[in-house]
Amino acid sequence: HSADAHRTDLMTITRFVLNEQSKYPESRGDFSILLNHIVLGCKFVCTAVNKAGLAKLIGLAGETNVQGEEQKKLDVLSNEVFIKALVSSGRTCILVSEEDEEATFVERSRRGRYCVVFDPLDGSSNIDCGVSIGTIFGIYMVKDGHEPTIDDVLQPGKNMIAAGYCMYGSSCTLVLSTGTGVNGFTLDPSLGEFILTHPDIKIPKKGKIYSVNEGNAKNWDGPTAKYVEKCKFPTDGSPAKSLRYIGSMVADVHRTLLYGGIFLYPADKKSPNGKLRVLYEVFPMSFLMEQAGGQAFTGKQRALDLLPAKIHDRSPIFLGSYDEVEEIKALYAAEV
Ligand code: AHG
Ligand code: MN
Ligand code: MN
Ligand code: MN
Repeated sequence: HSADAHRTDLMTITRFVLNEQSKYPESRGDFSILLNHIVLGCKFVCTAVNKAGLAKLIGLAGETNVQGEEQKKLDVLSNEVFIKALVSSGRTCILVSEEDEEATFVERSRRGRYCVVFDPLDGSSNIDCGVSIGTIFGIYMVKDGHEPTIDDVLQPGKNMIAAGYCMYGSSCTLVLSTGTGVNGFTLDPSLGEFILTHPDIKIPKKGKIYSVNEGNAKNWDGPTAKYVEKCKFPTDGSPAKSLRYIGSMVADVHRTLLYGGIFLYPADKKSPNGKLRVLYEVFPMSFLMEQAGGQAFTGKQRALDLLPAKIHDRSPIFLGSYDEVEEIKALYAAEV
């Protein structure tokens, strides 16, 4: 492109998805409509997050959610915004949110073919100190005219047709995969449009950063402890890795995707299934990692092969650069 072509040839996320969709002649534009409603939710949360400090949205909403966590106002607000946006799209049939104990079954007159699982506000412990937080989502599709049941969302992550996250940080960045690679879009607030800024993201094969909550080290199992030890005291003469841990999965995963390295939330004695939720944290991030050439492993199997039994199931997760995850798989294999 010459510079001016670039300035006038704005590749918005809507245009990008329409281009993608033109590859599927039978498609009815439903996915583009669904995505536009997800994007609307992200824009709303982005402005709410940016105003949080001013609008006294900060602080606890006083209720606790099914996870037993105190809900912060933005958690509650974001959840309502996404539920309403998704139902009003007329393209969804089941919605699963971290903030709702039960799944939402959309009434027949507004029903569509997509099931959306989402974490409306990820990293909410970081809201009050202004550290990056985000929204994570995954999308399954049900067959036409099918009476939806909870089994339509209790599927392995490999059956997702799309996944993504929006990170509310120094800029608002939406990273999306519809199964043919990963693309990043940055919100241009003056246009209110997400513009393609990171085409065809590929995660480096190796990385120099590991990302884990070292505060849980006393509870880790053997292979995890051995892997982290190797990061700090490499035995092959390579330099030690740096530790970067933000405590918002979206921010830690976004850095890992762009810079390479490994993000791990392992099992520990206190929580044998780790902390992160399968449907709306582990699966979408694992989907993106694989689409970007990386890997995602639970300690026992490929993360996307997991079959969740309940909508808020948790799983340990090791995801990131292909070679780094290979090392962890080898350590767990040696344990068997
Ligand atoms: P959420 O705010 O949606 O409940 O998610 C928080 C998660 C995730 O964002 C992050 O990776 C993890 O909690 C951090 O957990 P620790 O504070 O235990 O390290
Ligand atoms: Mn939470
Ligand atoms: Mn989360
Ligand atoms: Mn959350």
